[in-house]
Amino acid sequence: MQTQTEQQAGDTWLAALDAEARALVAAVDAQPDARRMLEGTLDAEGYIHYLVQTYHYARWSTALLSEAGYRLRHLGRHPELAELLIQKGEEERGHDEWLLSDLKNLGCSREQVEAAAKSPAVDAYTGWNFFTSRAGVPTAVLGTSYVLEYLSQTRAGRWAERMQAASAIPNIHKAVTFLRSHGALDGDHVAEMVKILGRLTDPEDQEAILFSARVARSVYPRIFREGGASSRSLAA
Ligand SMILES: [Fe+2]
Ligand SMILES: [Fe+2]
Repeated sequence: MQTQTEQQAGDTWLAALDAEARALVAAVDAQPDARRMLEGTLDAEGYIHYLVQTYHYARWSTALLSEAGYRLRHLGRHPELAELLIQKGEEERGHDEWLLSDLKNLGCSREQVEAAAKSPAVDAYTGWNFFTSRAGVPTAVLGTSYVLEYLSQTRAGRWAERMQAASAIPNIHKAVTFLRSHGALDGDHVAEMVKILGRLTDPEDQEAILFSARVARSVYPRIFREGGASSRSLAA
């Protein structure tokens, strides 16, 4: 049972987390290629760049989340959050295969995708989240999940719809599985996190989750092509 003061502190903290999520959406919308996705006008090269970079971080999602969950369980802290992390790790399983399949339908083989250069944003994202998952505060990765799933519920489905409607990319109808699926699923995932995180009162965990949300908000928007033109195309 929470006291009224704890309830108010929890609401303030959730509001701060939500502000990070909304700031991420704004920062992504300010990226030229993300704006083009929203307008449906993005070219194949820009979309491939986005999918390839997404693959290079999303392939680690199951490992990041479940390792954090098992470590938290082992530490005997926040059992509900440990289960949530493990569950989220399972939910992410196979999403990298959706990306590979979308990319294949755009003419990019698995070998090409694997060999493509990772952007500094992807390295920062995976480095930071593996650190918190394996050696930092294990609940922190929930901050990353929260802001990315919020972005996904707000933008992924719309990006897919607009790009399909404009049809600026050949074969786009067969290359939006990752976006469409996340647009459909992540609304529920965000609602579930709000419910569970609303019960968290430990200031150390709140701070760690919020800090990772800020890292994701700073780093993630840079996975798009710089200035909207590629210096790292697949062919390079
Ligand atoms: Fe996913
Ligand atoms: Fe999700």
